[in-house]
Amino acid sequence: MEVSKSLRLCLIVWNVIIAILSLNNGVEASHRIYPEYESLAASTVRQLHRTGYHFQPPQHWLNAPMCFKGSYHLFYQYNPKGSVWGNIVWAHSISMDLVNWEALEPAIFPSEPFDIKGTWSGSATVYPDGNPVIYYTGVDAKGQQVQNYAIPADVTDKKLRKWVKPKEGNPMVVADKEINGSTFRDPTTAWQTNGHWNILVGSRKGSTGVAYLFKSKDKKTWTKTARPLHEVPNTGMWECPDFFPVSTSHEKGLDFSELRKDVKHVLKVSLDVTRFEYYTIGTYFPDQDKYVPDKGQVDGWDGLKLVYGNFYASKSFYDPVKFRRVVWG
Ligand SMILES: *[C@@H]1O[C@H](CO)[C@@H](O)[C@H](O)[C@H]1NC(C)=O
Repeated sequence: MEVSKSLRLCLIVWNVIIAILSLNNGVEASHRIYPEYESLAASTVRQLHRTGYHFQPPQHWLNAPMCFKGSYHLFYQYNPKGSVWGNIVWAHSISMDLVNWEALEPAIFPSEPFDIKGTWSGSATVYPDGNPVIYYTGVDAKGQQVQNYAIPADVTDKKLRKWVKPKEGNPMVVADKEINGSTFRDPTTAWQTNGHWNILVGSRKGSTGVAYLFKSKDKKTWTKTARPLHEVPNTGMWECPDFFPVSTSHEKGLDFSELRKDVKHVLKVSLDVTRFEYYTIGTYFPDQDKYVPDKGQVDGWDGLKLVYGNFYASKSFYDPVKFRRVVWG
């Protein structure tokens, strides 16, 4: 994506899953629903258990974010009512330095037939015209997972406090006959190839993990490609796919749409079965809508990890201020 440097736009989209209480009551970060806990407030959150440096919400459960006109915007999956996964909204904080944060009101919360049962993870994209768009998974009135979009109510508000979900064009992508609408979520940031915008959505077919690729010319109508960008048998549901270029000739980060000769691509997926994620490095063939991991890459459970330890549903963004790719998890 080409971001106007004059506006110093930066767009962060991340998924952070952190149990706020270091005592997790045996409850893990996941989409598993614990009705008995999901609206139960944490009675005490001691300062001792808070991070001194990394972002944390005021209290409770956290997981997803964005950034614009010189300030970083963090949207994250947040349960306003309880300390386990449930009641999920897109909370919103902003920062000039990624250290000091100001909490704003939630950006996206269930309100429409296409997201009334949930506003789950997704990603933000700042298009070259300077307009940010959030793609997110909504759970519709029938319990089906669909992909929606939201835009700022007022793009001249530097804080982008209010977000709207236009009636026209939502839901943006629904499961077709091939896709199981109960396992279809977490759209990526859009990237540009010859004449098209592209997004991935995580899924599974039986026990095969799948990253479906959707393409659009006008950013409104999205068409699934004949084959997924990539799939791997016996890896189960793929959540929060992340797909971005890395340079083979220098150490600076690259924006999502950089498709030069000296790039490799990284495909990272989060395996829902064990809440573990891995990535491969490979070659992206944009004309064939195909990604092929390099020879020798371990494409499955024993694959490379971004972080060893408990780290899940990560998302990266390109920071155009410091020319780096930052991963949040
Ligand atoms: C669709 O996914 C759900 C949730 O994982 C699963 O229970 C169901 O069996 C799947 N349906 C089909 C037809 O595979």
